[in-house]
Order: sequence, then structure tokens, then C-alpha cells
Amino acid sequence: MKAINSLKELVETLPHCSGKEYVEIAHRMQIPLEDFEPYAHWSKETYTRNCISRSKDYELLLLCWEEGMDTPIHCHGGEECWVYALQGTIKEERFDFSNDKEEEIELVQKTTMQEDSISYMNDNMGFHKLINVGEGRAMTLHLYMNPIDRCRIFDEEQAKFEVKELEYHTYKGEPVNDEIALETM
Ligand code: SIN
Repeated sequence: MKAINSLKELVETLPHCSGKEYVEIAHRMQIPLEDFEPYAHWSKETYTRNCISRSKDYELLLLCWEEGMDTPIHCHGGEECWVYALQGTIKEERFDFSNDKEEEIELVQKTTMQEDSISYMNDNMGFHKLINVGEGRAMTLHLYMNPIDRCRIFDEEQAKFEVKELEYHTYKGEPVNDEIALETM
């Protein structure tokens, strides 16, 4: 399998991918961390969603996490995705319904992702939650096939799902609005 050695090469290769190639491409990446610098933004309020590239078939996002930040438990809107741990240590917790009841969701798997590890997910595999469990900041690269503009998230206190609209904090390196203060590397 031919290696992909830069983010530019990844962005140029994605439009020519289809089917399983979207997943195989994650295993070809040997991209230096500096390539992500123009897209990396952190917030003290939330993990940030930074869109590097998007088409009707996929979206490539860089997620930036301060220590301890996490996602809610969520699905992937019927789409597929992979997560590549670029920097730091991310715990992935997977959940599924117990007794086929929506209000009864149970933890079925925990994985700690070290740098360069890859995780694949689709809705047939249940729901997941990601947590930056390392010391300091983390960065993860996500490919969604197709783009996901909304998903269901599980409110753990009320034990019920709600629909969440997904937004970007930056698009191609530029802040989308000035509602949240963003920091760079
Ligand atoms: C997100 O895209 O905001 C959550 C991360 C994921 O589903 O992998």
C-alpha cells in the first residue's frame, strides 16, 4: 500500500476514493504533525471541530481537545467514520442498547487509543463517546463518509436521546464565527 506522506496528498486523494478505499486510506497515512498546524484550534469551552475538506461524499475533520474534554455518547447519523489519534491519548467507550430499550444503554467496550491508532465505527456497531484522558492537549483526525450534519446524542442524566445539529468551529483554517475564543498551537 502506497504511503500518504502529507496532508495535501490526503486531501488530493480523497476525491478519487470510493467504498472501502475511504477506510484503507487511514492505514496509508504517514503525515507529519506540522501539516495540521494551520487547522488546529482549541477552546477552553469545548473540543473543537475543524473542517479541513468536505465534499458530498465525505468530510475530513481535525478535532482538538483540551485535557479531560469529551463528546456526549452519540451515533453517526447512519454514516461510517474512522478516527485517527494524531496526538495525545484518547479513550473510546462504546455503548449499545441493553434489552433493546432506548432508555437502557450499556457500556460494551473501552479502548485507549495511543498516537497513530485507528478506530472505525458505524451505527450497526452502536454508539460511542471519546474522551481526552491524556495529560494536556490532544488532536484526532476524523473521516465521515458521508458528511454528518446531525446525529443523536444520549443525555445520560435524563436517559434519553436528542438530536444534535453538528457545527464547525473553523472551516479550511478560518473561524466560522466569533462566538467562541479559539487558541492556536
Ligand atoms: C464529533 O465529530 O463531534 C464527534 C467525534 C466522532 O464521532 O468521532
